[in-house]
Amino acid sequence: MRLIEKETYQEASIAASQLLINLVTQEQDPVIGLATGSTPEGLYKQLVANYQAGNVSFTSVKTFNLDEYVGLGPEHPNSYYYYMAQKLFNQININQTQTHLPNGQAVDLASECKVYEHLIANAGGIDLQILGLGGNGHIGFNEPGTSFQSNTHVVQLDASTRAANARFFESEAAVPAQAITMGINTIMKSKEILLIVTGNGKAKALKQLLNQEKNEQFPASVLHEHGNVTIIADQAALSEM
Ligand code: GLP
Repeated sequence: MRLIEKETYQEASIAASQLLINLVTQEQDPVIGLATGSTPEGLYKQLVANYQAGNVSFTSVKTFNLDEYVGLGPEHPNSYYYYMAQKLFNQININQTQTHLPNGQAVDLASECKVYEHLIANAGGIDLQILGLGGNGHIGFNEPGTSFQSNTHVVQLDASTRAANARFFESEAAVPAQAITMGINTIMKSKEILLIVTGNGKAKALKQLLNQEKNEQFPASVLHEHGNVTIIADQAALSEM
């Protein structure tokens, strides 16, 4: 794993955007895996700014998001669909046929997971997957204990994850109990992975990731097995090293 150290969140976001923009301008039909949460917000702001400055075009890009809450539809302000529309898709030249998120309102969730997995495969797989890091080591919504063989699946969210994400909801009880997430195996099939880790709140998790051998109790540790992972971290996240 390559570790790129940046001073600030802003500099980390710029470095992440440069890596993504390089891929989008160099690959013919790039397939990008996207993440939500607070961490990639700066990255998305940089992508929008670069689009507005004429530095990048997204017309040939396909995107697949990591995860979505079960039960929240596109209009729900806390759905990841809504997040992506507001923070990125509505502000760049990309249309709905190019972007994909799991459908958290599917009647048959198990079949939705299979369909999602097929859509990724049919697109030729993911060229670059963006990841954030959960405080408990989760990637996507793959909580500790998730099999490293897992494909896209429905998960019960950990109490700690619901508590961490409660800041976006009226209360912790309002955070959905389930989500659909790409599995660890789905993520590991990506040709390249970019993990962005920023802020003091992630310092312990980042230290653990860098020192931890592969262990299903710390999902991100699987990344040690991938041949092409870049971690971009800011000083706050590196403060426990
Ligand atoms: C959330 C998301 C993940 C995200 C992680 C960290 O629960 N499902 O995709 O990477 O937890 O979130 P944040 O960036 O807000 O700290």
